Amino acid sequence: MSTAEPRSIRIFDTTLRDGEQSPGASMNLVEKLEVAQALADLGVDVIEAGFPIASPGDFEAVRQIAQTVRGATICGLARCNDKDIDRAWEALKPALQVRIHVFLATSAIHREFKLRMTPDEIVERAVAGVRRAAAYCDDIEFSPEDACRTEHDFLCRVVEATIDAGATTINIPDTVGYATPSEVYDRITMLRNRVPNIDRAVLSIHCHDDLGLATANSLAAVSAGAGQIECTINGIGERAGNAALEEVVMAMKTRSDYFDCQTRIDTRRLVPTSRLVSKTTGLSVQRNKSIVGRNAFAHEAGIHQDGMLKDRSTYEIMSPADVGFSKTDLVLGKHSGRAALADRARALGYTLTADQLQQVFERFKELADRKKELYDGDIIALVQQQMTTTVDPEWTLVDYEVISASGKTPHVRLTLRHGDQERTETVEQGDGAIDAAFWAVEKITGIEVVCKDYQVRSATLGRDAIGEVKLEVEHRGRIYRGNGASTDTVESTILAMLGAINRIAAEQTMAERNAGETAPAAGTVAG
Ligand code: KIV
Ligand code: ZN
Repeated sequence: MSTAEPRSIRIFDTTLRDGEQSPGASMNLVEKLEVAQALADLGVDVIEAGFPIASPGDFEAVRQIAQTVRGATICGLARCNDKDIDRAWEALKPALQVRIHVFLATSAIHREFKLRMTPDEIVERAVAGVRRAAAYCDDIEFSPEDACRTEHDFLCRVVEATIDAGATTINIPDTVGYATPSEVYDRITMLRNRVPNIDRAVLSIHCHDDLGLATANSLAAVSAGAGQIECTINGIGERAGNAALEEVVMAMKTRSDYFDCQTRIDTRRLVPTSRLVSKTTGLSVQRNKSIVGRNAFAHEAGIHQDGMLKDRSTYEIMSPADVGFSKTDLVLGKHSGRAALADRARALGYTLTADQLQQVFERFKELADRKKELYDGDIIALVQQQMTTTVDPEWTLVDYEVISASGKTPHVRLTLRHGDQERTETVEQGDGAIDAAFWAVEKITGIEVVCKDYQVRSATLGRDAIGEVKLEVEHRGRIYRGNGASTDTVESTILAMLGAINRIAAEQTMAERNAGETAPAAGTVAG
């Protein structure tokens, strides 16, 4: 029997870069910092914090994450040109552990149609990019974009040259999600066999999910000897997304007998991190999503329930507690104190600062007055509402009154606070109370929006459950999200609406502050 330690696989999280490229998933600075801290607490090895040249907002997010988040390597993306690499370094340099990730497409399709460069020019540019980055720090990752559609000979040539130039990680992206598991296995094996200096770099895999194969392909790469997986929480990312972190990690853990690998991930933080990312990006997790979906551990069939009662291993290959689902649905009420609330929030995976606890506690008390018993779902809704609220929101709700009756035009009187001023408007228009609330918010804030998506769901069971509203609105061609939680769905709607309005207002303030700075580079989006 072998006594060798299982192989360690690095987890490179790109939720804040590739994940943020999911349509409609953009996050603001505060949200990115929160997600980055959650990723560090989860135990990822590398956080790809953004693409600093892409916009002043991206630059600032990478810089602040580099300055404040500890316990993981902070990485920034750059194309193989001096401006991108210098800007990435500028943002990353406050970090204690830094990686610069440079990329250049290598496949014939990209060379001919996108870059219009010859193979020699590609090698020269890739080597120059890696050398420039290596002059700043020791940890350099190079990605031959669209590697899985690149000719073997040329891919070997680029990989060998970039390792010689200083790359310490070589990442093999399946940029368009085209490869199959056996092809990925063969490609990694081919690189390990044919590139003479391959032992001087860690081989990494980066899979997109266009054919639903991202997890299988990532695991095939590990079986072939890759030492790093690039992935995102909930599998969010460009188009159909990237390999889901929770899936690759739990596959390696649950089937350690097969993979003989380990990661540093604290798997009990998977569910809370998934919830945070879902709330922050506005991208819901489907109920039957592996590992973190609401139904992932729900047994419906009588035969299954019977088996579970006899022995859980009959139908359960992982324990819900191992991935962070709480075991009990403890009830809190209006007599529960701050400590009990903090305790429950901690058990659910949220560590609140004193300030956050105070604000959640105030909302908790208000809610406990309206609703006798508060369940885990209520606590999660309150905590997440607080955590995803813009710091120093421009507009906050003071109070409202709604009169709605069948066959009559609804009436809304709404008061909002802006700075130290309160503004009240009365509106008698709209197709119902919700529509009227939209009109009232627009009238007071002066920000007009078009509603693109509106969803309401209950956080727990029962008629008095918190109603969570999630909405997307369009303003000047851009999509903004907002969330609201209350036992009254009109209030949830106003709060969600204000969430979106505050994002618009914050962006306008940021744009005014950045006016005069360099405009974002064109064509900076990477898959
Ligand atoms: O999918 C891709 O090719 C990428 C690279 C930038 C690594 O995201
Ligand atoms: Zn990608």
